Order: sequence, then C-alpha cells, then structure tokens
Amino acid sequence: IRRDDLRNIAIIAHVDHGKTTLVDAMLRQSGQFRASQLQGEQILDSNALERERGITILAKNIAIQYGGTKINVIDTPGHADFGGEVERTLGLADGALLLVDAFEGPMPQTKFVLRKAFERKLKPIVVINKIDRPDARPDEVLNEIFDTFIELGANEEQADFPYIFASGKAGFASHDPQAREGTIQPLLDLILRHVPGPEVNPDGPFKLLVTSLDFSEYVGRIAIGRIHSGSVKRGTKLAIVKAGGVIANGAADQVLVFDKLGRVEVESASAGEIVAIVGVPAIDIGDTVTVPDDPTPLPRIEVDEPTLSMNFRVNDGPLVGEGQFLTTRHLKERLDRELISNVALRVEPSDERDAFRVSGRGLLHLSVLIETMRREGYELTVGKPEVILKRIDGVLHEPYEYLVVDVPQGQMGPVMELVGARRGEMVKMDVKGAYAHLEFTIPARGLLGLRTRLLSATQGEAILHHNFHGYQPMKGEIPRRVNGVMVSMVRGQAVAYALDHLQQRGTMFVSPGDEVYEGMIIAENARSEDLLVNPCKEKKLTNIRAAGSDKNILLKPPRQLTLEIALEYIESDELVEVTPSKIRLRKRHLT
Ligand code: GTP
Repeated sequence: IRRDDLRNIAIIAHVDHGKTTLVDAMLRQSGQFRASQLQGEQILDSNALERERGITILAKNIAIQYGGTKINVIDTPGHADFGGEVERTLGLADGALLLVDAFEGPMPQTKFVLRKAFERKLKPIVVINKIDRPDARPDEVLNEIFDTFIELGANEEQADFPYIFASGKAGFASHDPQAREGTIQPLLDLILRHVPGPEVNPDGPFKLLVTSLDFSEYVGRIAIGRIHSGSVKRGTKLAIVKAGGVIANGAADQVLVFDKLGRVEVESASAGEIVAIVGVPAIDIGDTVTVPDDPTPLPRIEVDEPTLSMNFRVNDGPLVGEGQFLTTRHLKERLDRELISNVALRVEPSDERDAFRVSGRGLLHLSVLIETMRREGYELTVGKPEVILKRIDGVLHEPYEYLVVDVPQGQMGPVMELVGARRGEMVKMDVKGAYAHLEFTIPARGLLGLRTRLLSATQGEAILHHNFHGYQPMKGEIPRRVNGVMVSMVRGQAVAYALDHLQQRGTMFVSPGDEVYEGMIIAENARSEDLLVNPCKEKKLTNIRAAGSDKNILLKPPRQLTLEIALEYIESDELVEVTPSKIRLRKRHLT
C-alpha cells in the first residue's frame, strides 16, 4: 500500500544555487519554527572546503511538516562520489527536487547525479530559484533544463517535468516567472502532488537496508536507512545480517527520524520512513537490520573497493610543531573516527614505523581527507600514492575504473587523447546538445594525474567521475610524461616566477597564504633547479594566461587542489608534508 502521510525527496543542486536558503524558507514557513531559532543560522550549512571545491562532500538531511504530511528532504552529494554514495542516497527517495539558479542555468556538475536519478526512474520537480535576481532569465533557463534532460536520456514522462519559479531569499514560489512575492506553499503543494508516497508493506517483518552510517562518542555506530517493511519500536531485539549471511545481535535502543534540525527520537517508526537506529554496534553499509525470527536479508548493496593506498604519518621534517595535533596517537584517533562514516576508506598498519596505510577511492577522495585534517589543525606527512594490486591465480591484477567524462563538444579531442594515452578504452559516447558524454574503462593507475591534466587541457570544463569496475590482469607501464616540482615562495617572486614559467614550459598552480605562495609547476621534465630562477617584476595574478591558450587558467586554486596535484606528481623518494599553513614537497632523507 501507499503511504500518504510521508514523502521522501532527494534534493539535487549545484553549490550556491540556494539550497540552504530555500530549505530554510520551507522550514520557516511550514510553521514549526520558533523565530528565535532562525536568526542568522542556516540549517543545511556546508563546510568551507565544500564551497571552495564546488562539491558537496557530506550529505545533510532534514524533514518538513506540511499539513498532515511529513516531507523528508534528503541531501545528495553534489559532485564527488566516493564509493557509490550517490546511488545509495537516491535509493532512499521516491522523487527529486532539482534546484537551478535562474541566471546561471543548469550546471554540468549536477549532471552525474541527475543521470543517476533518471536511471532510478525518479521524476524530478524543477525549481528555478533566485528569480528575484535582476539578471534572472527564468524562461531561458527552463528551456536549457529541458535540453539537459533530453541530453541525459530522460524518458517522455521525465521530460514532461513539473516546474516552479522561486526565490528562497524572498521566501516564495510561484508558477509565474515574474512573481515578486508570495509564500513557499505552491512548492510544497507541488511536492505533495508529484512525489508519490512510499509504497510499503506495513505488516511484514521489520526490515531495513543500511545505506549510511553515523557515529557518536557515546553510542558508537548508528545505522541509517529506509524501512522496507514492518515497523520498529524502541527496545525491540534486532538481528543484523552481514556480508556472507553472518548474523549479529542488536536492539533498537533508540529510533530516530529526521526533523527540522536534524534528528529526533521517536517511540516507533514504520515502513517508508527513513530512520537512524542506535543499538546495532557492529553495523556496516549494505547490512540488513531485521527481526531475529525472520532474518532473511534484503539484496545487499556494495560499497566500491578502495583502489589507491598511501602512507600517513606524523611530520618529522623542518616544519614540525606548528599544528595542534602532532602525535601518532592523534593521527590514529582521527583516522579511526573517519573510518566510521567514510565508508570507502580503509586504514591498516604500515610497514613503515609509526605510519598507517590509508586506502581510498582515488586521489580526490584521499586528498579531501588530508585537506580536511589540515584545516582541523593536523600535521602529517604522506607518501606516494600506489594502486592496490592483487594476485589472482598467480597473475598480478590491477584495479580498473569505469570513468565518466562530461565535456563541451569542442573539447572532446584532448579528452580522448589523454585518456587513450593512459590505456583508457571508450565504451560509450553520447553527443547531444553542447556537451559530450564519454564513458571509458581505464586502469586505476591511469587516473593518477588525469584529473588535473584534463582540467588544464579543457580550461577547467571537464567533469570526471569514476566507479570501481573490477580487477584485470596487469598490462605494462602507463607512460608518465609530466613531472612536477613543488615550490614555496614569497609573494612577489611567486607571481613573477609563474609568469616566467607559463610562457616557457607549462602550467603553474599557486595557492596564496599570508606571505607565501605554495605552488606546483607542472611541466615537461620540471627540475628542482628550476626554482633558482630569479624574480622579475610583480604582476597581477589574474592577468596570467596559459601559454598557447586564450583563456585564463586556474591560477589561484584552493589548497586542496594544490595538494592533489602534489600527490599526483610525487616520486617515490619524496614526501608531501602538510601543516595547517603549508603543503610542501620534500626529499625523503633530509640531512
Ligand atoms: P551550499 O550550501 O554551498 O551548497 O550552497 P547553497 O546551494 O545551499 O546556497 P545558499 O543557500 O547558501 O546560497 C548561496 C548564495 O546565494 C548566498 O549568497 C545566498 O544569499 C544567495 N541566495 C540564495 N537564495 C537566493 C535567492 O533566492 N535570491 C538571490 N538573489 N540570492 C539568493
């Protein structure tokens, strides 16, 4: 049967298109908010790193009460997908809300998630937001969204999408693109009308598939998922069906559901609801939580395997001492904490003394972790990233990834060339509208260094995602044609130096600190002697253009990107040293 008192909707939005503001308006106007709780406080706030990188890393959820209906709003990770999180998140929802800025239009970064939503047969409701902007062009943006949907393979029903215009800031939604005031109610009504209530079996045995995890110091692991059938009451004994059919015991010590500010404890919850359960300590993503007398599991979902490892340890170099967290114990505790919610991550002891072998879903995944830790005040040194190999039937196998690239049509050439040179094989090509969508299989080794190379070859336009594809026998070397040198300079020098180098040999990335620019030169055969070039006159960074290109290139990337580049290009006798203020490359044996 279909529940009518509940809606589960996933919200898909590009960073800065106004998701937080709109959700706040929905909460505020749905009448459950005390005015004092609102002042200056945004509900779905994101961390600084997410904003800087233009990706949503952590998903946050809330619920809105509207009339007799509860609407669970599920935040989707925008761009980065570390281990299949996008699929799992969309799996909780029966509908999707696509939020698009009325001036900027649909952004390529949201395409990956949208495509997945279409594959899951979700029918998005489109909200053209910020129509109060003086430069808003709502009607054109609506057409662009239609074109995007067709390009992404929307079926007839999905292409005939419901839409509405809105200003989260002014707190209204309207079917009239010229509207300047009103309430958010038309949007809530549209959700109730177009998103089906969950189809459930309320009387069956309680079953829930764990799609994400949370952790608290006091209660340990918390299982989160949508109740598939039956209901769960506080205190009920539970069985946890793990991989391979192993059964563990647990109990519903606490049952929580989403509310206006996050989560609230309830006496019981039934099929269709998204709940968090406390009392299931040995839980993992993909496990089924059920009742002991009928422990048949739901189909298991898999988390992508880690394919890349590197050693983490505390700093012992010349920079040591500036951070807040400096000891091996600090590092170990932080990594242990990360493991609980960062499901595609593994941490093991390393052969190296006092070091940990940290494995993840690629360079972006690991560098997001390192950068987050750096911002929290950790100091650490990391070694060269290495692909995780396996011996199967006596033969060495390496991980392959399924790579998806979206790029403007005119930039397809450099993408195919770069991916091809790294043993990528094209599986699919779709050219519709202004964008090309390319799919490849590629050895995970080939992904090292690919992202920044693709970004530079396409003036920052290429968007990449990859999923684990499987292990295949190892075939020869992958050519590495580019070297990098990590530098650290005082302001005037860095600028002059960048100019010099851009003209001469390649691209330089710099990241400004207080007095120092940290940088990375990527060039054919860059050498450390290159750093001895003398500074000339200071020029403005924004005026620098890449050699041979008429477009400005990325010259002030966030530190995280600098770090990622450093990791891509280090050699095995080098280490990357990370402190709260610096990212620096050094030789392994400093005397
Ligand atoms: P992330 O949390 O980084 O993903 O961003 P977001 O999508 O949640 O956007 P947020 O609500 O933080 O708004 C981003 C910026 O757009 C802020 O500067 C807002 O003030 C502004 N903004 C949000 N909604 C509106 C709107 O309806 N009209 C106008 N003109 N500006 C808006």
